[in-house]
Amino acid sequence: MSDNSDDHNLIRTAKEFLRLEAELYGRFQMPDISKKINDESDYLSSPEPDIPDGTDAKPRSKSDLPESAKTLDELLDICLNSDVLRTDLTGTRLVFGTGNPDADLMLIGEAPGFQEDKQGEPFVGPAGQLLNKILAAISFHRQDVYIANILKHRPPNNRDPLPEERDRSLPYLFRQIELIKPKLILCLGRVSAQTLLRTDEPMKDLRCRFHPFREGIELMATFHPAALLRNPALKRATWEDVQLLRKRYNELTGEGG
Ligand code: URA
Ligand code: URA
Repeated sequence: MSDNSDDHNLIRTAKEFLRLEAELYGRFQMPDISKKINDESDYLSSPEPDIPDGTDAKPRSKSDLPESAKTLDELLDICLNSDVLRTDLTGTRLVFGTGNPDADLMLIGEAPGFQEDKQGEPFVGPAGQLLNKILAAISFHRQDVYIANILKHRPPNNRDPLPEERDRSLPYLFRQIELIKPKLILCLGRVSAQTLLRTDEPMKDLRCRFHPFREGIELMATFHPAALLRNPALKRATWEDVQLLRKRYNELTGEGG
């Protein structure tokens, strides 16, 4: 084969990759660093997230604050009544989270999609089916772990969550994490990893290692299962990531001998 046709193949592969990424994550955009929050206390000390102009959201009472929830059920109630968690898509259903409330491993994706919105449960569409297989490959059932998303409502056209939407949703997710107290968090995909680690680094630099997250919680990131559906070449790396995750899980929990 001539060099020329190698070049063509490479360009075709690169174009296809970019097309798939754009499909998955929306058109490319630079993260909004002007809004970047540097310190977790910024999130926690702003119990009244900014409500976009033009909404007639009611002022919130103290008992609406996620920090006031003593249990997951209380947090669920607060979330059900919280317009703060909504995107600009109307009529969506809350997708709170699912699984074992005492899980040592928590999985965090990006945002509900069509099926998730319909069923009120995270990762139940095609990406969810693949996630179940990935979990099975490291001997977990869905019910063993806890699964949630950065956003608890579906964004229109599955676009990337806006920085402003993530900021509004995070205090609720942080409270959820505090109540579940996992030892490990696995971020599924770039949006989840970059949001929780507060970085703009690409997935290839974030994956396959453990990042300190909170006291007693380590965080790993891997590719989003939807990315694997479109680009099976990412499966090998994901496989390596979850093997390492399982190993660490066993070390931290004393499971598996
Ligand atoms: N993708 C996500 O990030 N989360 C879901 O719940 C489903 C698909
Ligand atoms: N590219 C990323 O950065 N993350 C994914 O999950 C998939 C592709």
